[in-house]
Amino acid sequence: MAPTNICCIGAGYVGGPTCSVIALKGGDQVKVTVVDINQKRIAAWNSDELPIYEPGLDEVVQQCRGKNLFFSTDVAGAIKAADLIFVSVNTPTKLYGLGKGSAADVKYIESCARAIAEHSEGPKIVIEKSTVPARTAETLDRILRANCKPGITFEILSNPEFLAEGTAISDLMSPDRVLIGGSTTPEGQKAIQALSAVYEHWVPKDRIITTNTWSSELSKLAANAFLAQRISSINAMSAICEATEADVSEVARAIGKDSRLGAKFLQASVGFGGSCFQKDILNLVYLADSLNLHEVADYWRQVVILNDWQERRFSTRIIKALFNTVSSKKICILGFAFKKNTGDTRESAAIYVCQHLMDEGAQLAIYDPKVKAEQIDLDLKSVSQGQEDRVDRLVTVHSDPYEAMDGAHAVAVLTEWDEFKTYDFAKVYATMPKPAFLFDGRNILDHAALRQMGFEIEAIGKKIH
Ligand code: UDX
Ligand code: UDX
Ligand code: ADP
Repeated sequence: MAPTNICCIGAGYVGGPTCSVIALKGGDQVKVTVVDINQKRIAAWNSDELPIYEPGLDEVVQQCRGKNLFFSTDVAGAIKAADLIFVSVNTPTKLYGLGKGSAADVKYIESCARAIAEHSEGPKIVIEKSTVPARTAETLDRILRANCKPGITFEILSNPEFLAEGTAISDLMSPDRVLIGGSTTPEGQKAIQALSAVYEHWVPKDRIITTNTWSSELSKLAANAFLAQRISSINAMSAICEATEADVSEVARAIGKDSRLGAKFLQASVGFGGSCFQKDILNLVYLADSLNLHEVADYWRQVVILNDWQERRFSTRIIKALFNTVSSKKICILGFAFKKNTGDTRESAAIYVCQHLMDEGAQLAIYDPKVKAEQIDLDLKSVSQGQEDRVDRLVTVHSDPYEAMDGAHAVAVLTEWDEFKTYDFAKVYATMPKPAFLFDGRNILDHAALRQMGFEIEAIGKKIH
């Protein structure tokens, strides 16, 4: 039998790793072509330095590339050849017009639909992989039907991706579940089976859940909203802990033992980041408001408000501890990615903490093991409207953590990178003006040992005596 020909439009954080694992696990039963309009990105996927960092990804790509996995800018050719087409393009929050600040911008999805209609010469199964606003499948369907050549049929499926960055490959290799939503018609069910067969190469059948299209789309938004809500809930508790003698880690351990609550996603932090949580909640808020469900909208909006507040609260603590002035003081920022094991900075709490510290005139020395200096520069300039030059004046990015910490008034941990736990802080302490401050925005360091060395420590949700 000829291999299933799969095309994925969008070679980003979702499309790239997902298709690499589909190729690895599908073997000679599948041929996967990942296409993107961004030539630089495709060139990087075809080089030794992949455009994204994910543990284990290099090995998978090396094993499959050129055999049953291809990266190309030939969008039209890949569409023509494909049986299944994943749409895995970005859907950022709209920055202008109707729904500005909360609705998702589906212009990239729309342009994919138009390209698929234009280049298809036979029936196609079109799969939404990107997280999309509820009922985007309907938009796709209408555009495809209105533009397709005579006699060509399309089935639209929703197959949201639940991988988390930093663990993408292991999440893809053994997912908790694969969700496929489709139409209840016989053709819809046939399309669901065709996609299910691709996953069945490695995912046990009982982990493949099928639903109607709308449940599938909404489940993705709901999953991210519930996950983010847990972080805002524990972060809300962290503020109460700081004002009392309670310790948020102890509270998390105690409540996590309740099997109804579970132990995961209870790590208090400087705030959640990433490309999904805030965007998806705002998307849900927009949907609820547009359905006139304002109480529902307010409920979810509060998760984002709490997160913004948590970031601000952390930077305010730094400023207050440093005697209410950080102007011209060197503050070392350890970690700029939104979580460990990724170089991704989208919506990272570090951006907003640094923004606040720059507003106060602090000199920032930033170190992150994976984030490139140009990215940090871009992110900090994007939150410095009208005064981008301050980034050049106030910020230095270092490739050596000890150089970044040397002589700093304070060190702030903003990402939970494992290597931060291994540093020789006694050596760092000796170089710092006293009192030497350490702000642990992830609660990963050994606070008792650091205190012993002489550091003044502020952590999330606990008092360090
Ligand atoms: C609760 C806590 O579960 C328990 O740990 C604590 O010690 C006391 O408070 P209880 O109020 O007895 O216990 O019952 P619980 O099973 O938690 O249900 C509380 C309410 O939530 C009920 O009205 C129940 O019908 C409702 N509920 C529960 C739902 O509507 N949906 C659910 O999924 C679960
Ligand atoms: C998330 C979802 O987990 C994933 O299922 C979905 O497909 C995409 O969005 P991701 O954003 O990659 O994945 O990372 P995740 O591990 O969920 O972390 C998001 C943010 O929450 C990070 O900034 C992380 O540091 C923070 N976080 C997570 C906490 O602050 N505390 C926790 O307990 C867990
Ligand atoms: P995600 O995190 O959802 O994977 P990314 O921004 O990492 O999002 O990746 C989305 C990719 O989709 C980008 O590389 C972008 O160039 C690509 N893309 C957007 N629109 C189109 C399109 N119409 N055709 C092909 N690729 C597209």
